[in-house]
Amino acid sequence: MIFTTESLQDAHRRKWGGSGADVKVYRAPGRVNLLGEHTDYTEGFVLAMALDLGCYVTRSKNASGELRVISENNGQERRWPTSALPVVQPMHDWSDYIVGVAKELFRAGYPVEPANLRVHSAVPMGAGLGSSAAIEVATALALLDGRAIPAVELIQLCRRAENRFAGAPCGVTDQFVSVTAEAGSLLEIDCRTLESRTVSWPEDIAILAVDSMVRSEAGLSGYRARIAECAEARERLGVRSLRDATLEQVASLPGELQGRARHVVSEKARVHAFVAADGPAERGQLLYASHASLRDDYAVSCAELDCLVDLARSIDGVYGARLTGGGFGGCTVNLVEVAHVPGFEEKIKAGYQAAYGIAPRVYRCVPAGGAAPQS
Ligand code: GLA
Repeated sequence: MIFTTESLQDAHRRKWGGSGADVKVYRAPGRVNLLGEHTDYTEGFVLAMALDLGCYVTRSKNASGELRVISENNGQERRWPTSALPVVQPMHDWSDYIVGVAKELFRAGYPVEPANLRVHSAVPMGAGLGSSAAIEVATALALLDGRAIPAVELIQLCRRAENRFAGAPCGVTDQFVSVTAEAGSLLEIDCRTLESRTVSWPEDIAILAVDSMVRSEAGLSGYRARIAECAEARERLGVRSLRDATLEQVASLPGELQGRARHVVSEKARVHAFVAADGPAERGQLLYASHASLRDDYAVSCAELDCLVDLARSIDGVYGARLTGGGFGGCTVNLVEVAHVPGFEEKIKAGYQAAYGIAPRVYRCVPAGGAAPQS
């Protein structure tokens, strides 16, 4: 679903009034991770791309002294006096992303002016496709309204909004990709230095996300548990972060910690191997290996995601598949030869429907550019 600037401005005017030229449109994309899963919070390497699915925030000025926001996704509306934003408490819903970003902007010296916002996201929520970061980044651009900000500051500010106010201890990947991605390329990110480089992608290999439609409460607690386990493993090994550990060191860890750390260390090698690989066959095998590691060592998969990966393996033209994002539900990412995409869609839908009675959604992912004003 891609919205035109005019249709977004019209919808904004219908809600908030004003004339077309006064309505600014900002877009920030969701993202899909190809490899480097659950390694950004241990200073690892991530390979990801922005999606053409994005969150759109339209903005016009108002003279009410308030920040007013409507979410087109659920029809809910919120208003706060801008002067009260620094002391607003979390509502534990979508509006926390808006307020969290506003608070961080205040803190960073970018006061929020009274404005009307309309938020409309095409990124499926909770699917592991970076929907929260897309809202945060598009909101930040709308609240900045043309004021310049260094990209790294924008990324970190949005991440802090999520960590401190929305209550999710995420790493830096989603915001980084949403801000800095380049159309047509993957992005390899070094999460220690925040340096990145583009990696070209062949047009004959399609990247497809398949949404299991599973949304699990276990996601957030599982994520927190993995962060704590990684911290414990790091301390036991005496390394700066798990990124610096070797497989030999990891073998000395007890019980589940060993598997958690092995995933982080082996995933780092997979990212480098993927970038250096010649063709889709080798790259696809790395995706399957990543899934096995996330399932067996890191324990963030679920039966539905395992089923989608097993189904993918049995379909012609598929090179590789694995869960993507935080896990415990959400999507798999699949590398499929372009000519086989229709067959893949048909078979994965039929197979999953037969197994779970659920129709999965399939998204063709085309590497898109990062966040930007649209008007
Ligand atoms: C979520 C977080 C990211 C990253 C992934 C797992 O998407 O927002 O920072 O940790 O999970 O790779």
